[in-house]
Amino acid sequence: MNRFGRKMLEHFPLEPQAVYLNHGTVGVTPRRVLEAQQAIRDEIERHPARYLLRELSGLTASSGLSQPRLRSAAQEVAEFLGARGEDLVFVGNATTGVNAVLRSLGLEPGDEILIANLAYGAVTNAAAFVARERGAKVVRLELPFPLADPGLYVEAVDQALTPRTKVAILDHITSETALILPLAEMAERARAKGVLVLADGAHAPGQIPLEIPALGVDWYVANLHKWAFAPRGCGILWAAPERQKGLHPPVISWGLDQGFTQEFDWVGTQDPSAYLAAPEGIRFMRDLGVEAMRQYNHDLAGGAAQMLMERWNLELPTPQSMIGSMVTLPLPQGLGSSPADAARLKDALLFEDHIEVPVMAIGGRLWARISAQIYNDLSDIERFAQALERRL
Ligand SMILES: Cc1ncc(COP(=O)(O)O)c(C=O)c1O
Repeated sequence: MNRFGRKMLEHFPLEPQAVYLNHGTVGVTPRRVLEAQQAIRDEIERHPARYLLRELSGLTASSGLSQPRLRSAAQEVAEFLGARGEDLVFVGNATTGVNAVLRSLGLEPGDEILIANLAYGAVTNAAAFVARERGAKVVRLELPFPLADPGLYVEAVDQALTPRTKVAILDHITSETALILPLAEMAERARAKGVLVLADGAHAPGQIPLEIPALGVDWYVANLHKWAFAPRGCGILWAAPERQKGLHPPVISWGLDQGFTQEFDWVGTQDPSAYLAAPEGIRFMRDLGVEAMRQYNHDLAGGAAQMLMERWNLELPTPQSMIGSMVTLPLPQGLGSSPADAARLKDALLFEDHIEVPVMAIGGRLWARISAQIYNDLSDIERFAQALERRL
């Protein structure tokens, strides 16, 4: 019998009446991880100066600990991601990691930043801001959606690179369209032309197996507070060893020029408990069985798509190989077509039916992105379907 599904809600603080199909945007933190975080906070409060100034980061550590506490947590997280602890730092979120890399790049007038139309809006804004400051140019990589062949995305990257491209920002899993992109292949094309690659893997940890160094990218930014069950405010920035020099956090503090981990491990006084509790999120997944959990989520996303497409006589354009735990699917035409229709429907589903799901307008029709998490099952999809059909 499957142990996943709505009965898993006992492990999460989510309201029982909520149909929560948006773990991808704002993940729900398991109770066990929140308790671990609170225990860390309690320990900090027993002696904040000892904990924060003597034990937390390598910059000031003078305690008898074998390593600073942040380094131990980074080590555990890195192992989960197939990486080395010394190449990984915590950041508050993926947006912060992207800003750190882009603002450290030393772009010159005329340099180009390549970023796809399917990229996350805040990341596109960060690229636009840095380009504006430096007289550089943002070049939009047009990736068609829908598209059935991931190989065409690789070709599109190849064709958009120019002798002026300094960095390509490539998604691992796209946000609105929820596509697993062929990141390693796209990065290889960029590398072959001497272009640096900043990978946006905001949705990847926990959702898909990861061996970051094997992807052939220069920097990899990700969130642990989405699919890796860390408390909110926990992301990572991985940098290849040769890219760590000159990489600075957006907030400069005591660690300036003291080395990659020293610099990022102290960016002013903060609550480090989300970072330190991240290993508990990984332990939660391991106790459930990481592969079993991923398989369940993938099957539920795929099963939801199949059920809804058959029911509405529509076709899902995305191949199974590009779907992880999220799927973006077309909605019946009668529900509207514009961004305003999408916004109205999304709010109506939440405020009238307790259903949280992102709805967007793409190519003149409405689409919904369903996140499948271990606390969801097909009964959630059924409620979603009925709520939409009542509005047709
Ligand atoms: C692809 C992608 N990149 C970056 C982000 C930004 O994440 P955060 O708001 O945690 O910085 C998101 C958020 O959903 C995302 O989907």
